[in-house]
Amino acid sequence: MSSTGNLRPLPFTVDRVSDKEVSRLRSWGFSGHAEIVRTNPSRVNLPPAYSHLAHAYYNFEFRPDDLVLVTYPRSGTTWTSEILWAMRNVGLLEQAEEITSGDRTTFIDMDFLMPSRADDDNPKVKEFLSLFPEGRVEDGVVLQMTKWHKGPRIIKTHLQIDLLNPDLLDTCKTVYVARNPKDVCVSLFHHGKISKMDPFESEFPDYAEAFMADQVLFGPYWDHIKQAWKRKNHANLHFMFYEDMKLDILGELTKLARFLQLDFTEEQLKAISDHASFGRMKSRHERGASGHNHTPGFFRKGQTGDWGNAASGELTAAMDRWIAHNSQDTDIVFKYK
Ligand code: A3P
Repeated sequence: MSSTGNLRPLPFTVDRVSDKEVSRLRSWGFSGHAEIVRTNPSRVNLPPAYSHLAHAYYNFEFRPDDLVLVTYPRSGTTWTSEILWAMRNVGLLEQAEEITSGDRTTFIDMDFLMPSRADDDNPKVKEFLSLFPEGRVEDGVVLQMTKWHKGPRIIKTHLQIDLLNPDLLDTCKTVYVARNPKDVCVSLFHHGKISKMDPFESEFPDYAEAFMADQVLFGPYWDHIKQAWKRKNHANLHFMFYEDMKLDILGELTKLARFLQLDFTEEQLKAISDHASFGRMKSRHERGASGHNHTPGFFRKGQTGDWGNAASGELTAAMDRWIAHNSQDTDIVFKYK
């Protein structure tokens, strides 16, 4: 919301998908968010609660000391947010043993992924209502708490850049992490098997078909990435690849630190990398210190190239055609191994 209280009008609409599509999504195996809404003309699939919050997201005011992380789901969001937090708190890393990742960084999408109600027996809702007894839970507990939070914030979202405040990049530093579509697809599928928010109850080939047909939440995958890629030379945007982080984490941390204008010694960079290693993050998560992501199995393999273990030759050929088709108008090159 702007300081004058005026909302920018949405340059898109948010519409319910037809009953026919809902049935199709259900028969495909999407038992959770079959009754999705879709932005038009951008065709982003989102849970129904997004429709009444679209204005709030589009008008959410970022501040110059915010750090914003934008990703397509399963692309390394949790890993990168831990790194961003560690870079800002390098002398205090042990805090992560006590304070959940959800309390150290803010995932603003929770308001539509898991919408709250005033009568929810949920500590966040209780805290919100105790601070703001007149507050409207349905306007988004996380969005409002984040707005009122004083001090620097680390905000993460899976919403594509065009659904966020157009002032974002002119206001604060933003990191975008992309992961190759094959591994995103496999990771999403497995997540669908354990997710309470977005369960998927069919087999991998069905999931891959839905993914390539842009039917899964937060899709279309390519638009999400291309919107960030075309802004990659903006001084306030740092574009990273999950695969590069896997190949050379210290090199990627060095570039990220330069972008954030932070100076670290080699030991500090190593401490940040260790702190955010797959093994350390997974074990903290298993000890219950990872907040909203506390889904057993959330930290699955953390590797590049898992597509090869999941897909048949035929499916790989279809995926390769889809990738080739969508790569025609872009010079994004992914690593698959
Ligand atoms: P896999 O399912 O392939 O294992 P997000 O946080 O965007 O939802 O991404 C989740 C993916 O990142 C999962 O991929 C998860 O295992 C992986 N991941 C999480 N933390 C990681 C880390 N520290 N290093 C490497 N991969 C990590």
